[in-house]
Amino acid sequence: KNKKKIMCGIIGIASNKPVSINIINSLKKLEYRGYDSAGLATLTDDSINEKKCSGRVEELEKILFKAPSNGNIGIGHVRWATHGVPNIINAHPHSSEQVSVVHNGIIENSDEIKRELVSKGLKFKSQTDTEVITLLITEALKENEPLKSVYKTLKKLKGSFALGIIFKNFSNIIIGARRGSPLAVGYSKEENYIGSDSYALKSMTNKISYLDDGELCVLTKDQISFYDESLKKINKKIHTMSESETAIDKGEYKHFMLKEIYEQPITIKNCISEYVDSLKKNINIINFPIEPNNINKIVLVGCGTAYNSCLTAKYWFEELTTIDVEIDIASEFRYRKLKFNSKNLYIFVSQSGETADTAAALDLCKKNNVKTCSIVNVIESTIARNSDWVLPIHAGTEIGVASTKAFLGQLTVLYILCLKLAIVRKDIDERTYVKNINNLKKLPEAIKECINIESNVQLMAKEFLSAKGSMFLGRGSSFPIALEGALKLKELSYLHAEGYPAGEMKHGPLALIEEGLPVIILAPKDKYFEKTLSNMQEVIARGGKILFITDNKKDSLNENIRFGLRVPHLDNLLSPILLTLPLQMLAYHVALLKNCDVDKPRNLAKSVTVE
Ligand code: F6R
Repeated sequence: KNKKKIMCGIIGIASNKPVSINIINSLKKLEYRGYDSAGLATLTDDSINEKKCSGRVEELEKILFKAPSNGNIGIGHVRWATHGVPNIINAHPHSSEQVSVVHNGIIENSDEIKRELVSKGLKFKSQTDTEVITLLITEALKENEPLKSVYKTLKKLKGSFALGIIFKNFSNIIIGARRGSPLAVGYSKEENYIGSDSYALKSMTNKISYLDDGELCVLTKDQISFYDESLKKINKKIHTMSESETAIDKGEYKHFMLKEIYEQPITIKNCISEYVDSLKKNINIINFPIEPNNINKIVLVGCGTAYNSCLTAKYWFEELTTIDVEIDIASEFRYRKLKFNSKNLYIFVSQSGETADTAAALDLCKKNNVKTCSIVNVIESTIARNSDWVLPIHAGTEIGVASTKAFLGQLTVLYILCLKLAIVRKDIDERTYVKNINNLKKLPEAIKECINIESNVQLMAKEFLSAKGSMFLGRGSSFPIALEGALKLKELSYLHAEGYPAGEMKHGPLALIEEGLPVIILAPKDKYFEKTLSNMQEVIARGGKILFITDNKKDSLNENIRFGLRVPHLDNLLSPILLTLPLQMLAYHVALLKNCDVDKPRNLAKSVTVE
């Protein structure tokens, strides 16, 4: 069975001028959602004109360059397949003579519907679940007008979708619909849009509405109508997006990832200034969904890098507050048999705010009537909109698939939240609070210093090329950073790497150490320092090649250490943030040396909107 599950980006434009160039530009912005095939369809001379390719949007652009598509109405798609080979046939849009559809999501009962339609004599061109939508609408159009046809079709579908649909015989409209996958709607003069996110529409408009689950919209070039799940006409709020987000081109940098690494002193400074009142030496976080003194437990949930930030924060909450902390990976959390408690605060950490597992974990909490908070970068996102309380990380748009500045932003907000809870609950005294705030304010400068050690990191990077794998070791709050360093190296350079608590090595992984294996030791001068050094000796004795990263001012380097790097020291609490920078750059440089696609690592996507 070759069922295609897709996580994709969609766009639709209704205009008074040709739309294909703007569709291509928007698809390029949506490539973070998927980039294994692309396509568009426009309406020209009362027929549907479809162009598709496997591979990147760039390929589609070349096709259009040779044979331009006219048409003032059009839809486009970038695809990310989780099953089967992505090819032209399975690329979207999926069109019949009458209708063309782009889809983000999964139709769970597509096999059933397909069997039904095939038994009626209908023919399928692709192996996708999406094509059932095309054929169902085509059938319904025989007896209904477009909106009714779409509505009737949606009633038959199980699963999740965001859809963009155009019609041969109704050449001035696009219909959009949402259930479970995000869909933004944009307004402009003589032009209207639908898109998987507001970012895709940003260069065209800053006026955005969001469809909620079950809702539909019909756009023409000068009008947008919205309908609820019973097809009653409704009004939607229009948000005006802020202009303050950072520029979204690479500028002088070779890759978005490098630009995003270098932006961190600024993004962290912005983040701190959003939350910290420098004059009063206070953190202006208010309106806690649960009175801080009544919080029984904090539960932190995220995926991948966001999970690593949760794991780091656990150490902070334990150190500074008396609150019990639990952490979980969203894809585990959502299926566990949990004991929900209304005195627990459930915090969801996500750069995109669209990660399917994290969003589902949040929904589960909502169903169980507990209070939720989200820490996100994209404030217009599903997770942000669905949670009781939002703490944005203010990192600006992150394009590189490997998360860098968003990770540091997540850590910073979690740390700030922790400090605020600690002082409100009187778990720390005023003096400690002010001291910690003062140190926090020094963070952007210290991050800048960390970035300046790039040339040493480049030397280190060479060590990984011929190695079988590598290990990243740390203790305490350096342990999650070891995990994050290994994750970055894996995803960017396709080399095996493991992150481990240094004290756990002798319980198994020490067997992996052999002559010349690169081992990164994270050893800030904290209460674990001496213990980490002993763990390092165990590795040296077995031939590991040590790359030592510390903030210890005294020379702890010796002849057994192949490379040493020193990051600045502010206080022990902030060391995980500073230790992250050399690891981000290490992964970047190893990937460069291996000629990997740094901004778009294979098999991945920026926003994981399927389970
Ligand atoms: C790794 C990375 C991923 C994401 C994860 C969650 O560099 O970027 O591990 O952290 O897919 O994504 P968000 O934060 O958007 O929920």
